[in-house]
Amino acid sequence: MGEREEKENIVLFPFMAQGHIIPFLALALHIERTKKNYTITFVNTPLNIQNLKSALPPPPSASTSTSRIRFVEIPFNSEEHGLPPHAENTDILPYPLIIKLIHASTSLRPAFKTLLQQITQEQGGKPPLCVIADIFFGWTTGVARELGLFHAIFSSCGFGFACYYSLWLSLPHRNMESGEVYESFELQDFIEASRFHKTQLPLNILEADGTDSWSVFQRKNLAEWKDSDGVLFNTVEEFDEVGLSYFRRKLGRPAWAIGPILLSKENRAGVSADSCKDWLDTKPEGSVLYASFGSNNTISPSQMIQLAMALEGSGKNFIWVVRPPIGFDINSEFRAKEWLPPGFEERAKDSGRGLIVQRWAPQVEILSHRSTGAFLSHCGWNSVLEALNNGVPLIGWGMAAEQFFNVKFLEEEWGVCVEVARGKTCEVRHEDVRTKIELVMNQTEKRKEMTRKACEIKEMMRSATRDEDGSKGSSVQALDDFFNAAMLRH
Ligand SMILES: *[C@@H]1O[C@H](CO)[C@@H](O)[C@H](O)[C@H]1NC(C)=O
Ligand SMILES: *[C@@H]1O[C@H](CO)[C@@H](O)[C@H](O)[C@H]1NC(C)=O
Ligand SMILES: *[C@@H]1O[C@H](CO)[C@@H](O)[C@H](O)[C@H]1NC(C)=O
Repeated sequence: MGEREEKENIVLFPFMAQGHIIPFLALALHIERTKKNYTITFVNTPLNIQNLKSALPPPPSASTSTSRIRFVEIPFNSEEHGLPPHAENTDILPYPLIIKLIHASTSLRPAFKTLLQQITQEQGGKPPLCVIADIFFGWTTGVARELGLFHAIFSSCGFGFACYYSLWLSLPHRNMESGEVYESFELQDFIEASRFHKTQLPLNILEADGTDSWSVFQRKNLAEWKDSDGVLFNTVEEFDEVGLSYFRRKLGRPAWAIGPILLSKENRAGVSADSCKDWLDTKPEGSVLYASFGSNNTISPSQMIQLAMALEGSGKNFIWVVRPPIGFDINSEFRAKEWLPPGFEERAKDSGRGLIVQRWAPQVEILSHRSTGAFLSHCGWNSVLEALNNGVPLIGWGMAAEQFFNVKFLEEEWGVCVEVARGKTCEVRHEDVRTKIELVMNQTEKRKEMTRKACEIKEMMRSATRDEDGSKGSSVQALDDFFNAAMLRH
């Protein structure tokens, strides 16, 4: 009997956006590494699958086994949905078309069902062990039900996503009769999160009135989570239990915290990390501020100038990942002379204080380097995990989605973050940014406390992922529990 028949198959299906595909890829590699008894089918639309395959390094030549991850294309024609040709990933779309692609993705339902039936046939009538689907793919619960399959959603954070979930389902910032938006408000079903200000809302929630296309999509999608068998979270139980309990009581389903699951350095496509490392090697311990807004964000021209002045004014060492500001082609060459204060780049270089990196930096190498003292970040969940996994405190500048709530969580619940600004359009004053940078980077009590807390969380992450004989960390145990629940159903 071939080895293949003995293995259980797991189907992973992320939404078509880099920020969703990458964590699913990390999950696939994690399962492949830790659970020898499973094969993985990674499903996406053709262009995304092709990009993934070309970005992944070939398996090490010494390895005798081939990968147990199979990439499978599901047909999708963007033009049939009023989208531009080849629009299969939100990253190449302007903001108004993103929700259009999200709506269009629900049309994948019949093809996804056919695919699951094909997999079953190929395996001699044995259906997949489970389907693990994206936070935007609530509709896949229906397919799983029809085929009698175990189903889970794979989400990122607990607390931040609980806020996001609650907000969409109740729109508490809006007076439904007058349409007025309240200055501040609470979440009735998540009082633990305390008060919110309207500036902490991502644009699509701020503008939502229950009838717009984001509301229409999310209210259906998030309600369908109740039909799933549970939710996997890329977080740690001891760290994120407030948000996890929200989902347990809201959905009446298990919430398995299985993180942090991150791509290893080896699995990142990329530029050589040497130049950043050499530069960091020359700096004192904890003296460098690393600033990056993630791979798919940028700030306004005036925010960029103010941030530059703050970095320079603080006199701290910094590595800053720059991208053209809002209003310019994000993929064009960075024009420092035009977008940064006069002489900024030269002074940063001549003084040895600043390293300006275009577009992409080896983030994990930077965050794990002893010279790095703090991370000025948009607080996307992967960045948060990578920082805390290295005991690095944050300076938060949320941009979209649940990032504002991640900042709130890290600042209010854990004291490992100081918020510096909100969003891509807010007015930012360099004096204020500078004060925050100094607060976190100076040898203050505040800094000591933040670093101590960040290291405490780092230890939590270490012990959650510990897997020695007879001693399993909470995240390892949770992944076992998840597979056991799926096996019971099988
Ligand atoms: C692997 O899965 C097969 C089929 O479900 C099962 O019979 C076998 O015991 C499993 N092996 C391990 C080591 O879990
Ligand atoms: C996101 O990244 C993609 C791929 O590099 C790029 O084409 C797109 O313009 C980026 N969008 C933003 C807002 O950064
Ligand atoms: C940080 O340290 C510098 C240099 O000692 C000092 O001028 C500045 O006022 C300090 N800022 C804060 C917020 O403590």
